[in-house]
Order: sequence, then C-alpha cells, then structure tokens
Amino acid sequence: MSRPKGAASRTRAAAASGPRVLVLSGPNLQLLGTREPEIYGRETLADIHARLEARGRELGCAKVDCYQSNHEGELLDRIGRATGSYEGMLLNGAALTHTSLALFDALRAVPVPCVEVHISNPEAREAYRRASMIAPACIAKVSGFGSDSYLLGLEGLVRWLARRASS
Ligand code: DQA
Repeated sequence: MSRPKGAASRTRAAAASGPRVLVLSGPNLQLLGTREPEIYGRETLADIHARLEARGRELGCAKVDCYQSNHEGELLDRIGRATGSYEGMLLNGAALTHTSLALFDALRAVPVPCVEVHISNPEAREAYRRASMIAPACIAKVSGFGSDSYLLGLEGLVRWLARRASS
C-alpha cells in the first residue's frame, strides 16, 4: 500500500510523543542466558533489551533506554538523574531489591513512577528473597513470568501513564 507523502515522518513524530522509559537492571543480570537457566531462562539481557525497545516502539514510547549495573551507586545515579528525562521506569534491582534502603530512598526522591520487575517469583523462593525494600516506593510489581515480566511491566507502565494523563 502506498503511503501519502509525509506519512512516514508523521508516524515517527507521533511515536516520539509517547513516554520516555528508563529500564534498570541490577547485579548479576548481565549473566542472564547462562546464570541458573532453570530459574532465569536462556534469554540474554541484550535479547530482553531488544524486545523492550521493539515493544516500546509499538506502544508509542518516545524511547526505552536500558542499562544494567553491578554497582548500587550507578543505579542510584541513574534514578537520581531520571527527573525530566523519563516519564517512567522499570527496575529489576536483583539482590539489591532485598537489601537496599538507598534504592528505596532514591525512588522516593524522584517523581518518576517505577514498576518493580523480577524474572523469577522471589516470594516463592528462599525466605531472604521474600521482602522487597523497594516495593513501597513502586506503583506496581511484575514477577514470575520469566523475561516477559519486563515486557508486561512496560505495558502496565505505559497504560498507567496514559490513565494518569487522562484523569
Ligand atoms: C531477581 C530475583 C532476586 O531475588 C535475585 O537476587 C536476582 C534476580 C529476578 O529477576 O528474579 O538477582 O531480581
């Protein structure tokens, strides 16, 4: 089907008007693909980031920026700089989820809504994974769906932002 002249650039402009989303993954998640595949699956973090970016385009996100760090301070710095650059974020804090008051404080300190994400279902695992320090600072949590937790978190976040914008 032929497009009317200028339609492609209008489509790009429309897509660019959606939310800017930050996706952060914490310690050891760079090892996805080979790390305990019976728990975390065989998909790499690069695969997940590619799926998130593609789904973000379908959902009309202006951008989906994905980062992983093993360093708590780097995650804190990225959260601290999110105001004005992103409308929402996804955070898989990995083990820091269960320990980091600093991550909780960082999320509380910025007006950027966050969805907590986990590949596994930590609440069905060891007792020390059952508590989340960051949950009270998040709008929602998606866990237990494997790598799809990230995708479902993105969809939920985009809907949440649209609902808030129209209310
Ligand atoms: C995890 C669950 C955490 O308990 C664990 O420390 C991780 C990954 C998940 O995505 O299932 O590193 O956040």
